[in-house]
Amino acid sequence: MSRTLKLNNDKELPIVGLGTYKSGPGEVIKAVKEAIDAGYRHFDCAWFYGNEAEVGKGLKDKIDEGKVNRHDLFITSKLWNNFHEKDKVVPMLKETLDNLKLDYIDLYLIHWPFGFKETASLWPVGEGKSAYSDVDYLETWEGMEECVNLGLTKSIGVSNFNAEQIDRLLKNCKIKPVCNQVEVNPNLNQKKLIEFCKQRDIVVVGYCPLGRSEYAGTPGFPDPTIFDPKVIEMAKKYNKTPAQIVLNYLISLGISVIPKSVTKSRIIENIDVFDFTLDPEDVAYLDSCNKNQRVCPLSMFQDHKYYSFNSEY
Ligand SMILES: NC(=O)c1ccc[n+]([C@@H]2O[C@H](COP(=O)([O-])OP(=O)(O)OC[C@H]3O[C@@H](n4cnc5c(N)ncnc54)[C@H](OP(=O)(O)O)[C@@H]3O)[C@@H](O)[C@H]2O)c1
Repeated sequence: MSRTLKLNNDKELPIVGLGTYKSGPGEVIKAVKEAIDAGYRHFDCAWFYGNEAEVGKGLKDKIDEGKVNRHDLFITSKLWNNFHEKDKVVPMLKETLDNLKLDYIDLYLIHWPFGFKETASLWPVGEGKSAYSDVDYLETWEGMEECVNLGLTKSIGVSNFNAEQIDRLLKNCKIKPVCNQVEVNPNLNQKKLIEFCKQRDIVVVGYCPLGRSEYAGTPGFPDPTIFDPKVIEMAKKYNKTPAQIVLNYLISLGISVIPKSVTKSRIIENIDVFDFTLDPEDVAYLDSCNKNQRVCPLSMFQDHKYYSFNSEY
C-alpha cells in the first residue's frame, strides 16, 4: 500500500498525518517529536488551534537533531474564519509562519467556507448574524493564490467545502485547490464527496477519523466506531487495534487521514496501518456503519450564507 497520495500539482502528501487540535501546552511538542520518530512526516495545524508555536518548536528540535529535513516534512495550516478578506490572507499566513518558525508551509487551507467579522469573537456562538461576514470565499481564494505566488506555501486547498462550493471555486480560480479537508469516519464515510473530488483531481483529507473518541457518550454525539463490539472483534481477527482497523478502512477509500493523539503508544499505533487488508465482509460491515452523523456539524452557524452542510454532500 502506498504511503503517499499525489496532489494535482505533483507534490506528494503522506497519507497519515498527525492532528493537533486540542493538543495542549507541554504535550504537543512531545507528540510532534514522538510522531517524527515514529515516521510521521505530515502535520495538520491551524492558526485557530493556538498551539502552532509549540508544534514549530517540536519540528525545529527534530530538524536541528538531524532526524529529519525540512523538505521531507509536509506541514498544513489553515486560515481562520475572521480573516476572509483578501488582504488579510497573506498577513495571517505570515503570522502562522512566524509561529511555526518556518519559511514556508506545504499546504494552506481555508478552514471553513463561511467567514466572521474581524471584530467578532473567534467562536461567535450566541452573537447572532451580526457576527457573520459576507466575504465570498472566491475573494478569500485570491488571497490564497497570492500566498503561493509569494512562495509562502507550496499548495493551497479548502476545508469543509461542499460539492457545489468546490465547483464554483474551480470555475473561478487561477490555481486549483489540491485538497478538501472534511470529516471522514465510518459514521460519515463521505463516499459521494470523495468520488466527486476524485473526478476533479482533488484529494480528500479526512479529519476526526477516530470519531473524536474523547466525546463518546456525550448526548447527541455519534458513537465512535472504535468502540463498536463488532470492530473490537474484527481487531482481534487481524491482531490489530480497533483504531488501526478504522484507519486502514479509511485509507482504502483513497484518502489521507490525520488522527490526533498526544499518547506515544497511540501515535505509533495510528501510523502502523499499512500492513494488512480487510476482508470484503469486514469492509462491508464498516460501509454499513455510515449514518451521515457529524462530530463537527457547526449547526450553530447554519444560517450563514456560506454554511456548507445543508446539501447532501
Ligand atoms: N478542518 C477542520 O475543520 C477540522 C476539524 C476537526 C479536526 N481537524 C483536524 O483533524 C484532527 C483529528 O481530528 P480530532 O482530533 O477532532 O479527532 P480524532 O483524531 O478522531 O480523535 C482524537 C481522539 O482520539 C484519541 N485517540 C487517538 N488515537 C487513538 C487510538 N489509537 N485509540 C483510541 N483512542 C485514540 C485521542 O486521545 P489522546 O490524544 O489522548 O491519545 C483523542 O481523544 C484534528 O486534531 C485536527 O488536526 C480539522
